[in-house]
Amino acid sequence: MSSAAITNSLSKEEQERLRELARNAAENSYSPYSHFRVGAALLLTDGSIVTGCNVENCSYRLTSCAEQAAIARAVSERGPAVRLRAVAVANLNNAASMPCGACRQTLSEFGDDDALILYPGENGDESTTLGALLPHAFRMQFLAQK
Ligand code: THU
Repeated sequence: MSSAAITNSLSKEEQERLRELARNAAENSYSPYSHFRVGAALLLTDGSIVTGCNVENCSYRLTSCAEQAAIARAVSERGPAVRLRAVAVANLNNAASMPCGACRQTLSEFGDDDALILYPGENGDESTTLGALLPHAFRMQFLAQK
């Protein structure tokens, strides 16, 4: 699950730009409890980019992750047909962080298995695919089966 092999047709420059936008989004993080400032940048299949940051809550369990905030914003601004080409996640804590389990499911609602995921790994920037992060995802098609 690392780096070099996976590019998903995004150039190095495009990947770095997406990571940078995720870092910028993390500047707006509302995280007075964890102090873990996270940002996400979604590259949609129409070429547009939507960002989000984590928004915590004193009830703790109502916290929205950056990826979830970005998805909510993308759907709110662009409509229900949005699809993911790539997602960058970043934090300002100089830590490794890949999308959490809940975020993997949230991203899977709007992305195919080959959507590119860029994240800070334990040894620097890494990348993988949504399908590798969440194999055998629960998908809406299953709801229609009898
Ligand atoms: N967080 C994210 O925003 N995305 C993730 O995928 C992992 C965790 C946030 C939630 C919480 O505000 C903080 O990071 C610490 O868990």
